[in-house]
Amino acid sequence: MTVCEYRPGLEGIPAAQSSISFVDGQKGILEYRGIRIEELAEKSTFLETAYLLIWGALPTGAELEEFADEIRYHRRIKYRIEDMMKCFPEKGHPMDALQTSAAALGLYYARRALDNPDYIRQAVVRLLAKIPTMVAAFQLIRKGNHPIQPNDSLDYAANFLYMLTEKRPTDLAAKVFDVCLTLHAEHTMNASTFSAMVTASTLTDPYGVIASAVGTLAGPLHGGANEEVLLMLEEIGSVANVRPYVEKCIANKQKVMGFGHRVYKVKDPRATILQNLAEQLFAELGSDEYYDIALELEQAVVDIYGEKGIYANVDFYSGLVYRKLGIPSDLFTPIFAISRVAGWLAHWKEQLNANRIFRPTQIYTGQHEVPYTPIEQRS
Ligand code: ACO
Repeated sequence: MTVCEYRPGLEGIPAAQSSISFVDGQKGILEYRGIRIEELAEKSTFLETAYLLIWGALPTGAELEEFADEIRYHRRIKYRIEDMMKCFPEKGHPMDALQTSAAALGLYYARRALDNPDYIRQAVVRLLAKIPTMVAAFQLIRKGNHPIQPNDSLDYAANFLYMLTEKRPTDLAAKVFDVCLTLHAEHTMNASTFSAMVTASTLTDPYGVIASAVGTLAGPLHGGANEEVLLMLEEIGSVANVRPYVEKCIANKQKVMGFGHRVYKVKDPRATILQNLAEQLFAELGSDEYYDIALELEQAVVDIYGEKGIYANVDFYSGLVYRKLGIPSDLFTPIFAISRVAGWLAHWKEQLNANRIFRPTQIYTGQHEVPYTPIEQRS
Protein backbone atom coordinates (compact mmCIF):
# COMPACT_ATOMS: atom_id res chain seq x y z
CA MET A 1 0.00 0.00 0.00
CA THR A 2 1.34 3.47 -0.85
CA VAL A 3 0.32 6.35 1.43
CA CYS A 4 0.91 9.61 -0.41
CA GLU A 5 -0.96 12.10 1.75
CA TYR A 6 1.34 14.18 3.92
CA ARG A 7 0.01 14.68 7.47
CA PRO A 8 2.11 17.15 9.53
CA GLY A 9 3.06 15.56 12.85
CA LEU A 10 1.89 12.21 11.38
CA GLU A 11 -1.48 13.08 12.91
CA GLY A 12 -3.81 10.10 12.80
CA ILE A 13 -1.31 7.83 11.02
CA PRO A 14 -0.69 4.51 12.83
CA ALA A 15 3.05 3.98 13.39
CA ALA A 16 2.77 0.61 15.14
CA GLN A 17 0.50 -2.16 16.32
CA SER A 18 0.60 -2.26 20.10
CA SER A 19 -1.18 -3.98 22.98
CA ILE A 20 0.41 -1.83 25.69
CA SER A 21 -2.05 1.01 26.22
CA PHE A 22 -5.24 2.51 24.82
CA VAL A 23 -6.69 6.02 24.79
CA ASP A 24 -10.20 7.09 23.85
CA GLY A 25 -9.78 10.84 23.56
CA GLN A 26 -13.48 11.55 23.12
CA LYS A 27 -14.55 9.66 26.23
CA GLY A 28 -11.45 10.43 28.33
CA ILE A 29 -10.44 6.77 28.76
CA LEU A 30 -6.88 5.55 29.34
CA GLU A 31 -6.06 1.87 29.84
CA TYR A 32 -2.76 0.08 30.44
CA ARG A 33 -2.99 -3.48 29.11
CA GLY A 34 -6.76 -3.09 29.23
CA ILE A 35 -6.96 -1.90 32.87
CA ARG A 36 -8.42 1.58 33.44
CA ILE A 37 -5.95 4.15 34.77
CA GLU A 38 -8.33 5.08 37.60
CA GLU A 39 -8.21 1.50 38.88
CA LEU A 40 -4.43 1.29 38.66
CA ALA A 41 -4.02 4.66 40.40
CA GLU A 42 -6.20 3.46 43.25
CA LYS A 43 -5.09 -0.17 43.63
CA SER A 44 -1.66 -0.68 42.07
CA THR A 45 1.83 0.65 42.68
CA PHE A 46 4.25 2.10 40.16
CA LEU A 47 6.49 -0.98 40.15
CA GLU A 48 3.55 -3.33 39.71
CA THR A 49 2.25 -1.11 36.88
CA ALA A 50 5.70 -1.05 35.27
CA TYR A 51 5.75 -4.85 35.40
CA LEU A 52 2.29 -4.96 33.84
CA LEU A 53 3.33 -2.64 31.02
CA ILE A 54 6.65 -4.32 30.28
CA TRP A 55 5.83 -8.00 30.78
CA GLY A 56 2.19 -7.80 29.67
CA ALA A 57 0.32 -9.07 32.76
CA LEU A 58 0.01 -8.23 36.44
CA PRO A 59 2.69 -10.08 38.44
CA THR A 60 1.95 -12.69 41.08
CA GLY A 61 3.04 -11.74 44.61
CA ALA A 62 6.28 -13.72 44.19
CA GLU A 63 7.03 -12.17 40.79
CA LEU A 64 6.49 -8.66 42.11
CA GLU A 65 8.68 -9.31 45.12
CA GLU A 66 11.48 -10.64 42.93
CA PHE A 67 11.18 -7.68 40.52
CA ALA A 68 11.20 -5.15 43.39
CA ASP A 69 14.21 -6.87 44.99
CA GLU A 70 16.17 -6.81 41.73
CA ILE A 71 15.43 -3.12 41.31
CA ARG A 72 16.39 -2.38 44.91
CA TYR A 73 19.69 -4.22 44.36
CA HIS A 74 20.53 -2.19 41.23
CA ARG A 75 19.62 1.30 42.50
CA ARG A 76 23.18 2.47 43.07
CA ILE A 77 25.01 4.18 40.25
CA LYS A 78 28.71 3.83 39.60
CA TYR A 79 30.95 6.38 41.29
CA ARG A 80 32.36 7.21 37.89
CA ILE A 81 28.88 8.26 36.75
CA GLU A 82 28.58 10.44 39.86
CA ASP A 83 32.02 11.88 39.08
CA MET A 84 30.92 12.59 35.51
CA MET A 85 27.84 14.38 36.87
CA LYS A 86 30.05 16.50 39.12
CA CYS A 87 31.59 17.92 35.93
CA PHE A 88 28.20 19.06 34.60
CA PRO A 89 27.48 22.82 34.96
CA GLU A 90 25.27 23.37 38.03
CA LYS A 91 23.03 25.67 36.00
CA GLY A 92 22.52 23.05 33.31
CA HIS A 93 18.98 21.71 32.96
CA PRO A 94 18.42 18.42 34.84
CA MET A 95 16.86 16.90 31.68
CA ASP A 96 20.15 17.41 29.86
CA ALA A 97 21.98 15.88 32.82
CA LEU A 98 19.61 12.92 32.74
CA GLN A 99 19.90 12.39 29.01
CA THR A 100 23.69 12.40 29.24
CA SER A 101 23.76 10.09 32.27
CA ALA A 102 21.26 7.65 30.75
CA ALA A 103 23.38 7.40 27.61
CA ALA A 104 26.50 6.95 29.78
CA LEU A 105 25.01 3.75 31.26
CA GLY A 106 25.66 2.20 27.85
CA LEU A 107 29.39 2.70 28.44
CA TYR A 108 29.28 0.39 31.45
CA TYR A 109 26.81 -2.31 30.46
CA ALA A 110 28.12 -3.95 27.33
CA ARG A 111 25.91 -4.49 24.31
CA ARG A 112 24.79 -8.05 24.18
CA ALA A 113 22.38 -10.00 22.04
CA LEU A 114 18.98 -8.35 22.09
CA ASP A 115 17.40 -11.79 21.71
CA ASN A 116 18.78 -12.82 25.11
CA PRO A 117 15.91 -12.55 27.67
CA ASP A 118 18.41 -12.18 30.54
CA TYR A 119 19.93 -9.12 28.87
CA ILE A 120 16.48 -7.61 28.32
CA ARG A 121 15.54 -8.24 31.95
CA GLN A 122 18.78 -6.72 33.24
CA ALA A 123 18.41 -3.64 31.07
CA VAL A 124 14.81 -3.14 32.25
CA VAL A 125 15.84 -3.52 35.88
CA ARG A 126 18.91 -1.30 35.59
CA LEU A 127 17.06 1.52 33.86
CA LEU A 128 14.10 1.49 36.24
CA ALA A 129 16.50 1.29 39.20
CA LYS A 130 19.12 3.84 38.19
CA ILE A 131 17.21 6.65 36.47
CA PRO A 132 15.70 7.93 39.79
CA THR A 133 19.11 7.72 41.47
CA MET A 134 20.65 9.79 38.67
CA VAL A 135 17.93 12.48 38.90
CA ALA A 136 18.38 12.72 42.69
CA ALA A 137 22.18 12.66 42.43
CA PHE A 138 22.29 15.61 40.01
CA GLN A 139 19.98 17.59 42.28
CA LEU A 140 22.33 17.15 45.26
CA ILE A 141 25.49 17.63 43.21
CA ARG A 142 24.29 20.94 41.76
CA LYS A 143 23.53 22.12 45.31
CA GLY A 144 27.13 21.29 46.22
CA ASN A 145 26.21 18.23 48.31
CA HIS A 146 27.24 14.59 48.01
CA PRO A 147 24.61 12.31 46.49
CA ILE A 148 22.75 10.22 49.05
CA GLN A 149 22.96 6.47 48.58
CA PRO A 150 19.66 4.58 48.12
CA ASN A 151 17.98 3.33 51.29
CA ASP A 152 17.14 -0.36 51.07
CA SER A 153 14.40 -0.07 53.67
CA LEU A 154 12.38 2.29 51.46
CA ASP A 155 10.29 1.35 48.48
CA TYR A 156 10.65 2.89 45.02
CA ALA A 157 8.79 6.20 45.46
CA ALA A 158 9.80 6.82 49.08
CA ASN A 159 13.44 6.08 48.28
CA PHE A 160 13.47 8.60 45.44
CA LEU A 161 11.99 11.35 47.62
CA TYR A 162 14.49 10.45 50.34
CA MET A 163 17.47 10.65 47.95
CA LEU A 164 16.16 13.93 46.54
CA THR A 165 15.16 15.80 49.69
CA GLU A 166 17.59 14.16 52.14
CA LYS A 167 14.72 13.22 54.46
CA ARG A 168 12.20 10.41 54.68
CA PRO A 169 8.86 11.42 53.17
CA THR A 170 5.57 11.01 55.01
CA ASP A 171 3.44 8.02 54.03
CA LEU A 172 1.00 10.31 52.22
CA ALA A 173 3.78 12.05 50.26
CA ALA A 174 5.27 8.70 49.20
CA LYS A 175 1.86 7.33 48.23
CA VAL A 176 0.92 10.44 46.23
CA PHE A 177 4.27 10.41 44.45
CA ASP A 178 3.90 6.73 43.63
CA VAL A 179 0.47 7.41 42.08
CA CYS A 180 2.00 10.25 40.02
CA LEU A 181 4.54 7.77 38.65
CA THR A 182 1.76 5.34 37.76
CA LEU A 183 -0.20 8.06 35.96
CA HIS A 184 2.73 9.12 33.78
CA ALA A 185 4.07 5.64 33.01
CA GLU A 186 2.63 5.17 29.54
CA HIS A 187 0.55 6.97 26.95
CA THR A 188 0.38 5.23 23.55
CA MET A 189 2.19 6.76 20.57
CA ASN A 190 3.40 10.08 22.00
CA ALA A 191 6.48 11.90 20.71
CA SER A 192 9.03 10.45 23.16
CA THR A 193 7.71 6.91 22.77
CA PHE A 194 7.89 7.24 19.01
CA SER A 195 11.43 8.53 19.39
CA ALA A 196 12.29 5.51 21.58
CA MET A 197 10.81 3.15 19.01
CA VAL A 198 12.64 4.71 16.07
CA THR A 199 15.90 4.40 18.00
CA ALA A 200 15.04 0.85 19.12
CA SER A 201 14.30 -0.18 15.55
CA THR A 202 17.99 0.25 14.68
CA LEU A 203 18.77 -2.43 17.31
CA THR A 204 20.97 -0.06 19.29
CA ASP A 205 21.43 -0.58 23.03
CA PRO A 206 18.54 0.17 25.43
CA TYR A 207 20.46 2.98 27.14
CA GLY A 208 20.64 4.82 23.82
CA VAL A 209 16.92 4.18 23.35
CA ILE A 210 16.08 5.77 26.69
CA ALA A 211 18.51 8.67 26.18
CA SER A 212 16.83 9.40 22.87
CA ALA A 213 13.38 9.38 24.48
CA VAL A 214 14.54 11.64 27.34
CA GLY A 215 15.74 14.20 24.80
CA THR A 216 12.36 14.17 23.11
CA LEU A 217 10.39 14.38 26.35
CA ALA A 218 12.28 17.54 27.33
CA GLY A 219 10.48 19.88 24.92
CA PRO A 220 7.81 22.34 26.16
CA LEU A 221 5.14 20.87 23.88
CA HIS A 222 5.61 17.47 25.52
CA GLY A 223 6.97 16.63 29.00
CA GLY A 224 8.45 20.09 29.47
CA ALA A 225 4.95 21.57 29.75
CA ASN A 226 4.62 20.70 33.47
CA GLU A 227 7.49 23.04 34.31
CA GLU A 228 6.03 25.73 32.04
CA VAL A 229 2.66 25.50 33.83
CA LEU A 230 4.19 26.56 37.11
CA LEU A 231 6.08 29.44 35.49
CA MET A 232 2.78 30.52 33.93
CA LEU A 233 0.90 30.39 37.28
CA GLU A 234 3.72 32.42 38.80
CA GLU A 235 3.46 34.97 35.97
CA ILE A 236 -0.35 35.23 36.37
CA GLY A 237 0.16 35.88 40.07
CA SER A 238 -3.47 36.35 41.17
CA VAL A 239 -6.99 35.12 40.42
CA ALA A 240 -7.90 38.59 39.10
CA ASN A 241 -5.19 38.34 36.46
CA VAL A 242 -6.39 35.00 35.04
CA ARG A 243 -8.86 36.17 32.40
CA PRO A 244 -6.68 39.06 31.19
CA TYR A 245 -3.85 36.51 30.85
CA VAL A 246 -5.99 34.20 28.71
CA GLU A 247 -7.10 37.18 26.59
CA LYS A 248 -3.43 38.06 26.11
CA CYS A 249 -2.73 34.48 25.00
CA ILE A 250 -5.52 34.73 22.44
CA ALA A 251 -4.25 38.09 21.17
CA ASN A 252 -0.67 36.78 20.87
CA LYS A 253 -1.72 33.36 19.52
CA GLN A 254 0.06 31.85 22.50
CA LYS A 255 -0.84 28.44 23.95
CA VAL A 256 -2.06 28.21 27.55
CA MET A 257 0.32 25.63 29.00
CA GLY A 258 -1.15 22.45 30.47
CA PHE A 259 -4.16 22.54 28.15
CA GLY A 260 -4.93 20.82 24.89
CA HIS A 261 -3.95 17.43 23.62
CA ARG A 262 -3.55 15.78 20.25
CA VAL A 263 -5.80 12.90 21.38
CA TYR A 264 -7.97 14.04 24.30
CA LYS A 265 -10.84 16.32 23.41
CA VAL A 266 -12.19 16.20 26.99
CA LYS A 267 -10.40 16.62 30.32
CA ASP A 268 -7.47 14.19 30.55
CA PRO A 269 -8.45 11.48 33.10
CA ARG A 270 -4.98 11.80 34.64
CA ALA A 271 -5.58 15.52 35.27
CA THR A 272 -8.69 14.65 37.29
CA ILE A 273 -6.76 12.14 39.42
CA LEU A 274 -3.87 14.57 39.89
CA GLN A 275 -6.24 17.33 40.96
CA ASN A 276 -7.65 14.98 43.62
CA LEU A 277 -4.14 14.11 44.78
CA ALA A 278 -3.25 17.81 44.99
CA GLU A 279 -6.32 18.38 47.16
CA GLN A 280 -5.36 15.48 49.47
CA LEU A 281 -1.90 16.99 49.90
CA PHE A 282 -3.31 20.47 50.54
CA ALA A 283 -5.59 18.97 53.24
CA GLU A 284 -2.57 17.50 55.05
CA LEU A 285 0.11 20.08 54.34
CA GLY A 286 -1.85 23.31 53.82
CA SER A 287 -3.15 24.90 50.64
CA ASP A 288 -1.13 26.39 47.82
CA GLU A 289 -1.42 30.01 46.72
CA TYR A 290 -1.43 28.89 43.08
CA TYR A 291 -4.32 26.45 43.43
CA ASP A 292 -7.04 29.11 43.28
CA ILE A 293 -5.34 30.60 40.23
CA ALA A 294 -5.24 27.14 38.62
CA LEU A 295 -8.95 26.55 39.31
CA GLU A 296 -9.90 29.92 37.81
CA LEU A 297 -7.62 29.30 34.83
CA GLU A 298 -9.16 25.91 34.17
CA GLN A 299 -12.64 27.49 34.24
CA ALA A 300 -11.54 30.32 31.94
CA VAL A 301 -10.05 27.87 29.42
CA VAL A 302 -13.23 25.74 29.51
CA ASP A 303 -15.34 28.87 28.92
CA ILE A 304 -13.19 30.16 26.10
CA TYR A 305 -11.72 27.06 24.42
CA GLY A 306 -14.05 24.28 25.61
CA GLU A 307 -15.93 24.15 22.32
CA LYS A 308 -12.63 23.49 20.53
CA GLY A 309 -11.99 20.48 22.78
CA ILE A 310 -9.16 22.12 24.71
CA TYR A 311 -9.16 20.96 28.33
CA ALA A 312 -6.63 20.39 31.11
CA ASN A 313 -4.01 17.76 30.28
CA VAL A 314 -1.82 15.65 32.58
CA ASP A 315 0.68 18.46 33.02
CA PHE A 316 -1.73 21.00 34.44
CA TYR A 317 -2.02 19.70 38.02
CA SER A 318 1.15 17.60 38.32
CA GLY A 319 3.30 20.68 38.98
CA LEU A 320 1.12 21.72 41.93
CA VAL A 321 1.50 18.24 43.44
CA TYR A 322 5.28 18.25 43.02
CA ARG A 323 5.55 21.78 44.38
CA LYS A 324 3.71 20.70 47.52
CA LEU A 325 6.17 17.82 47.85
CA GLY A 326 8.98 20.41 47.87
CA ILE A 327 10.35 19.49 44.44
CA PRO A 328 11.98 22.27 42.36
CA SER A 329 10.13 23.00 39.11
CA ASP A 330 12.99 22.06 36.78
CA LEU A 331 12.82 18.51 38.15
CA PHE A 332 9.21 18.02 37.07
CA THR A 333 10.15 16.78 33.62
CA PRO A 334 12.93 14.45 34.86
CA ILE A 335 10.32 12.97 37.22
CA PHE A 336 8.06 12.46 34.24
CA ALA A 337 10.99 10.60 32.64
CA ILE A 338 11.50 8.39 35.73
CA SER A 339 7.95 7.20 35.27
CA ARG A 340 7.78 7.08 31.48
CA VAL A 341 10.85 4.80 31.37
CA ALA A 342 8.34 2.01 32.08
CA GLY A 343 6.34 2.80 28.94
CA TRP A 344 9.43 3.35 26.80
CA LEU A 345 10.81 -0.02 27.88
CA ALA A 346 7.49 -1.73 27.15
CA HIS A 347 7.55 -0.29 23.62
CA TRP A 348 11.24 -1.15 23.21
CA LYS A 349 10.46 -4.78 24.07
CA GLU A 350 7.41 -4.85 21.83
CA GLN A 351 9.42 -3.32 18.98
CA LEU A 352 12.12 -5.98 19.30
CA ASN A 353 9.50 -8.73 19.06
CA ALA A 354 8.54 -7.65 15.53
CA ASN A 355 11.27 -5.30 14.45
CA ARG A 356 11.48 -3.45 11.18
CA ILE A 357 13.67 -0.37 11.01
CA PHE A 358 11.68 2.87 10.77
CA ARG A 359 12.32 4.41 7.39
CA PRO A 360 9.38 6.62 6.35
CA THR A 361 9.41 8.53 3.13
CA GLN A 362 9.19 12.26 2.40
CA ILE A 363 7.72 14.53 -0.21
CA TYR A 364 10.65 16.42 -1.73
CA THR A 365 9.91 20.12 -2.28
CA GLY A 366 13.38 21.28 -3.32
CA GLN A 367 15.07 21.86 -6.67
CA HIS A 368 16.93 19.50 -9.02
CA GLU A 369 20.06 19.79 -11.17
CA VAL A 370 21.26 22.98 -9.42
CA PRO A 371 24.78 23.96 -10.64
CA TYR A 372 27.47 24.40 -7.98
CA THR A 373 28.38 28.11 -7.56
CA PRO A 374 32.06 28.75 -6.65
CA ILE A 375 32.33 30.67 -3.36
CA GLU A 376 33.75 33.86 -4.97
CA GLN A 377 30.69 34.11 -7.22
CA ARG A 378 28.14 33.92 -4.39
CA SER A 379 26.52 37.15 -3.28
N1 ACO B 1 -3.96 26.99 24.43
C1 ACO B 1 -4.61 27.69 23.47
N2 ACO B 1 -4.95 27.17 22.28
C2 ACO B 1 -4.63 25.89 22.06
C3 ACO B 1 -3.97 25.11 23.02
C4 ACO B 1 -3.64 25.71 24.24
N3 ACO B 1 -3.00 25.05 25.20
N4 ACO B 1 -3.77 23.88 22.52
C5 ACO B 1 -4.29 23.89 21.28
N5 ACO B 1 -4.80 25.09 21.01
C6 ACO B 1 -5.47 25.52 19.77
C7 ACO B 1 -4.43 25.86 18.71
O1 ACO B 1 -4.05 27.20 18.74
C8 ACO B 1 -5.17 25.49 17.44
O2 ACO B 1 -6.09 26.51 17.16
P1 ACO B 1 -6.44 26.89 15.63
O3 ACO B 1 -7.02 25.64 15.03
O4 ACO B 1 -7.40 28.01 15.75
O5 ACO B 1 -5.13 27.26 15.00
C9 ACO B 1 -5.97 24.26 17.84
O6 ACO B 1 -6.19 24.39 19.25
C10 ACO B 1 -5.25 22.97 17.57
O7 ACO B 1 -3.98 23.07 18.20
P2 ACO B 1 -2.70 22.31 17.71
O8 ACO B 1 -1.49 22.91 18.34
O9 ACO B 1 -2.71 22.21 16.22
O10 ACO B 1 -3.00 20.88 18.30
P3 ACO B 1 -1.97 19.74 18.42
O11 ACO B 1 -2.75 18.49 18.51
O12 ACO B 1 -0.93 19.84 17.37
O13 ACO B 1 -1.23 20.10 19.80
C11 ACO B 1 -0.48 20.20 21.96
C12 ACO B 1 -1.36 19.44 20.98
C13 ACO B 1 0.95 20.30 21.42
C14 ACO B 1 -0.43 19.42 23.26
C15 ACO B 1 -1.07 21.60 22.20
O14 ACO B 1 -2.37 21.49 22.73
C16 ACO B 1 -0.20 22.46 23.10
O15 ACO B 1 0.79 23.03 22.63
N6 ACO B 1 -0.55 22.58 24.44
C17 ACO B 1 0.21 23.35 25.35
C18 ACO B 1 1.46 22.57 25.77
C19 ACO B 1 1.12 21.40 26.66
O16 ACO B 1 0.39 21.51 27.63
N7 ACO B 1 1.73 20.24 26.33
C20 ACO B 1 1.56 19.01 27.10
C21 ACO B 1 0.78 17.99 26.32
S1 ACO B 1 0.54 16.53 27.27
C22 ACO B 1 2.04 15.76 27.18
O17 ACO B 1 2.78 15.84 26.25
C23 ACO B 1 2.43 14.96 28.31
